[in-house]
Amino acid sequence: MTKRFEIAYLLKNDVSALLGTNITVKGWVRTKRGNKNVAFIAINDGSIIHNIQVVADPAKFEEELRHITTGACIGVEGKLVESQGSGQAVEIQAEKIVVYGEADPDSYPLQKKGHSMEFLREIGHLRLRTNTFGAVMRMRHEMAYAIHTFFHERGFFYFHTPLITASDCEGAGEMFHVSTLDPENPPRDKEGKIDWEQDFFGKFTALTVSGQLEGELGATALGKIYTFGPTFRAENSNTPRHLAEFWMIEPEMAFYDLDSLTQLEEEFIKYLVRWALDHCKDDLEFLNKMIDPGLIERLKSVVDTDFVRLPYTEGIKILEEAVAKGHKFEFPVSWGVDLASEHERYLVEHHFKKPVIMVDYPKEIKAFYMKQNDDGRTVQGTDVLFPQIGEIIGGSVREESYDKLLTRINELNIPMKDMWWYLDTRRYGSCPHAGFGLGFERLMLFVTGMANIRDVIPFPRTPGNANF
Ligand code: 4AD
Ligand code: MG
Repeated sequence: MTKRFEIAYLLKNDVSALLGTNITVKGWVRTKRGNKNVAFIAINDGSIIHNIQVVADPAKFEEELRHITTGACIGVEGKLVESQGSGQAVEIQAEKIVVYGEADPDSYPLQKKGHSMEFLREIGHLRLRTNTFGAVMRMRHEMAYAIHTFFHERGFFYFHTPLITASDCEGAGEMFHVSTLDPENPPRDKEGKIDWEQDFFGKFTALTVSGQLEGELGATALGKIYTFGPTFRAENSNTPRHLAEFWMIEPEMAFYDLDSLTQLEEEFIKYLVRWALDHCKDDLEFLNKMIDPGLIERLKSVVDTDFVRLPYTEGIKILEEAVAKGHKFEFPVSWGVDLASEHERYLVEHHFKKPVIMVDYPKEIKAFYMKQNDDGRTVQGTDVLFPQIGEIIGGSVREESYDKLLTRINELNIPMKDMWWYLDTRRYGSCPHAGFGLGFERLMLFVTGMANIRDVIPFPRTPGNANF
């Protein structure tokens, strides 16, 4: 066969020099139609949402065409010509067709369009071949690239934190244990408890819920770092916004305060949304048409608005006023409560109608490491709240005072034996610093308009499901 071209190349470049020459394309058949005089085969190779059309003579390719059905993988060599029909610029007049892999039409599950997302999750090994998942996965790649570019341009270092750890950063106790002990018959200590000292690492270990604590070690040496890796939470949250395995981006910056922190959070998200608009046009247009008609407008509106800075205490006042005026929430609102997603969405979607960065939360509802305010009851935590999504970023200024941090650790009964190395950052050259975590799949929900977080990651892990 002649030189193979990817479909994205053929549709996105000036290919006039190739017109009339023989080229090869390879990919998976999306549709085959036609009559006894002419056959049209639409091929997609994943490089772009669009297909290329192959025109074939049914008399010449009678045998091949019998094996070509939706889902089959083929290679086609033929003349590249300007397309006669509308909808595409160029097409290929087949001169040679190779069928690499048939797809039995009686059993191939992706026959018709318009399968439900629930059904597609059951065939997670094949759903990647649909237009929707192709668009989402290409955008995942673009966003990951944009994230590295953003930080690289600003002098941050990509810092790799461990996945296996002994410390529960968020203190929620929702960790997946990592062990090689025999679960049927683990070694016991004198008190009959499982003897983790005999385990692989000589102590109890688990998968990380966040790279932050080690990230702080990086930031207090390198100045500005970010992590970008998988995190694991064994929380039993069966919602459209929670995964048990998700990817998080966690920048950590020495000498940042609350203002510079929230500024970076806003700049970061706007950069990523703008990147999506600039670099994912075809996929966004598809998603806007097929999934969420408000998508592109919503992305544009975020890029052009200033995010609101809202102290928690003021947010509670707004919510209490809403209740007084008759608005019904499922969960009660008063100072001190952890906001439910209905509260966050009320503030973002009804009250301000733009993204909100909430700051200065009650210390009781936030993690031990957040910097305490002088009022003695709030901490410099920030959540970035987004339309449709709710919390997309969580972050804070970190408590840099050794004494205050230690007091808080003791108040919360966090085992000190796991924390000595973290406290050392406050014992030796302690510095003001801050950081945040962006949930990658929450970002993907926002930029794709998809409704369920299970559909923006190739292979979702949720309670009761670790298929594929
Ligand atoms: O708010 P979280 O728990 O913050 C931290 O983990 C901090 N250590 C971050 C930091 O300051 N370096 O999580 C951060 C973000 C959330 O805002 C959310 O976007 C996402 O991670 N997230 C989840 N995404 C999907 N599924 C889950 N179960 C998630 N839990 C948190
Ligand atoms: Mg949070």
